[in-house]
Amino acid sequence: MQAIIVVVAGDGVGPEVTNEAIRVLKTIERKFSYSFTFSHHLIGGIAIDTTGKALPDDTLQAAQSADAVLLGAVGGPKWDNTQAKTRPEDGLLAIRKAMKLYANLRPVRAIPVLAYCSPLRPELLEGVDFMVVRELTGGLYFGTPKERRQEGTAVLGIDTMAYYDYEIKRIMKLAFEVAQGRRKQLASVDKANVLETSRMWREIAIETAKGFPDVTLSNVLVDTAAMRLVMAPKQFDVLVTENTFGDILTDEAAVLTGSMGLLPSASFGEEANRHGKQLGLYEPIHGSAPDIAGKDIANPIGTILSAAMLLRYSLGLENEAHLIETAVEQALNEGCRTADIKQDGLKILSTVEITDEIIKRL
Ligand code: IPM
Ligand code: MG
Repeated sequence: MQAIIVVVAGDGVGPEVTNEAIRVLKTIERKFSYSFTFSHHLIGGIAIDTTGKALPDDTLQAAQSADAVLLGAVGGPKWDNTQAKTRPEDGLLAIRKAMKLYANLRPVRAIPVLAYCSPLRPELLEGVDFMVVRELTGGLYFGTPKERRQEGTAVLGIDTMAYYDYEIKRIMKLAFEVAQGRRKQLASVDKANVLETSRMWREIAIETAKGFPDVTLSNVLVDTAAMRLVMAPKQFDVLVTENTFGDILTDEAAVLTGSMGLLPSASFGEEANRHGKQLGLYEPIHGSAPDIAGKDIANPIGTILSAAMLLRYSLGLENEAHLIETAVEQALNEGCRTADIKQDGLKILSTVEITDEIIKRL
């Protein structure tokens, strides 16, 4: 197995957590005598500072010709100017769009030994295991017009929520397929009582369901879904939703499990890599956490689990992916903790130290 993995570490804790994920991947590489090439490129704030662009051309070119892309995080206070022409986040949105990564998979699973970290009572967490399928290249994030207009003395700010039917059809089909591989329950989340895009979304969900008679579809309003996620998260198997709704619901879902630092994600489009697998982009769902950047205290697990997803979906290395996931679980079960999931009586490990513990268990 030969693989070219493009690494876009980005800003804040991005470089630290991707470094650790690379160490884990290199351990797998050695153990199984594979040949992984890691090629580092700029994205986000650091790319703006260095090249003037949040997504430099050579980064995109490298990503498009790689087997998979591993991303850290983008953004930080340095670039947080509401008037700025280019923002670090533009780089992330641009790479998702240019690589046509329309589907973002965010698996959420409660880890029993971390129940004390969750804001929910332990009995609500038991057995929580669902997948959010977030539409990633459409909706409110990308619709136009997107601008500010001077209208007399008033200024009008505009964002547009827009979807083509085919954009909804492809994400819906993928979500049904994901549900087929799980407990066969799909919740399609929309705001069909208010939004036209959502009414179309719901019609397409119902239409698509006809091709998947083994999957049970429920249509849930996004406000209700947000409520049920904290009241009865166990009821969910697969959720599929619009870009912005998915962004919001996955932060909510992430803290259920105890920490934002634990959750991985994978983004897919229509492109295959030279192995005939998904040319995917893998990133933790957390942000750049500028407040803790450079201190060696960030939790690398979300990125390490993203690397496991990379092996599974872009390289077809299911056993190796499973090995990483098991090593992470074992390390947690055996008391390894970073600061975000600290527990009385247990030593707090650094970013590097917890990775050492995970690597020991591979
Ligand atoms: C995420 C992030 C991004 C998003 C930001 C950084 C643009 O919050 O991946 O969830 O909104 O998609
Ligand atoms: Mg988000």
